[in-house]
Amino acid sequence: MKEEMTMKNTILKKFTEVFGEKEGVKTYFAPGRVNLIGEHTDYNGGHVFPCALTIGTYGAARRRTDNKLRFYSMNFEKLGVISSSLEELEPSKEAGWTNYPKGVMWAFGEKGMQIPFGMDLMLYGNIPNGSGLSSSASVEVLTGYILRDFFGFQVSNQDLALIGQYAENNFNKVNCGIMDQFAIAMGKKEHAIFLDTADLSFEYAPIVLEGAKIVIASSNKKRGLGDSKYNERRSECETALAELQQEVQIGALGDLNEETFERYQSAIKDDVRRKRAKHAVYENQRTIRAVEALKANNVALFGQLMNDSHVSLRDDYEVTGIELDTLVEGAWKVDGVIGSRMTGAGFGGCTVSIVKDEAIDTFIEKVGSAYKEKIGYAADFYVVEVGDGPVTL
Ligand code: GLA
Repeated sequence: MKEEMTMKNTILKKFTEVFGEKEGVKTYFAPGRVNLIGEHTDYNGGHVFPCALTIGTYGAARRRTDNKLRFYSMNFEKLGVISSSLEELEPSKEAGWTNYPKGVMWAFGEKGMQIPFGMDLMLYGNIPNGSGLSSSASVEVLTGYILRDFFGFQVSNQDLALIGQYAENNFNKVNCGIMDQFAIAMGKKEHAIFLDTADLSFEYAPIVLEGAKIVIASSNKKRGLGDSKYNERRSECETALAELQQEVQIGALGDLNEETFERYQSAIKDDVRRKRAKHAVYENQRTIRAVEALKANNVALFGQLMNDSHVSLRDDYEVTGIELDTLVEGAWKVDGVIGSRMTGAGFGGCTVSIVKDEAIDTFIEKVGSAYKEKIGYAADFYVVEVGDGPVTL
């Protein structure tokens, strides 16, 4: 709460400095997210189990009376004010981070909700950019939330998630699933969201980790989904699905369980594709079991399933890389670590670990120094809390 107020004042002050006015400015916050388990399942009709964080993106915005757009990010101060207009809602390299808010404004228009006036928008994020904690989805949901607040569009938070994903897919050309935007728009304090991406049915599960906390380690290896192999993995899964559909009537890889996968897997004609599909199927089942374990207060089993998830992402899905493996394998060696795995798309970004309170300092010290020694630069650690979805401050 205190941090929120400090951030609100900081961003308001900067807004006045940069845009020269304070009248009519409103402030907002949208969280980042971390996924506890269920990785690369959301575009395969499977389950995910993410939660919103208390770190995220702060925004200050003022409605204009013309169609101009002025953007400023306190995370990219060197770029200064980036100007555009509602007539220029097209993606471009030069537009940098503003492609995210612009994409959402464009998406509202595509969905039949024309934006009547422009705005001045200032952002400040306290999630590390490009770290795999969904800074971009956070900006997307924040923008949608502001547009709804300014212009009274009849959209639910779930709609904001879908509009954010639509913008990411069609404006920014990243074929992401729905997990990130959903976790952010629908976040609930001290709960994770058990979401079935096949039909968007979901339930909130309390995160009760008596005597332990969620610790995120950022590899500081930058990753952009667009230039990663994300889209490639997605299409490998689509091809594997089409091969399986020759043999068995399914709509998505998430429709199979371990047993039915083993029965039909020979329909997939390529070893690599078979491994990708295996991960998607097994990870989905693992996620279902992990949530059951958590509900039964079996945190140890939940942690074990997190570890298994990492192994599958490393060996079958091949999206980890030396940085994430070093962090996770280092974590597994520390007493008091209940579970540890990469989180998000992979290829860099972050790991998520559940660590007993008394082991947190040792964890940071040991994993941090092993990482620095092997990789050559430092990792950053964040002990995080599970927070709510977007709010007006
Ligand atoms: C990224 C995407 C999500 C999801 C994860 C992998 O975060 O945006 O939709 O696919 O990768 O689980």
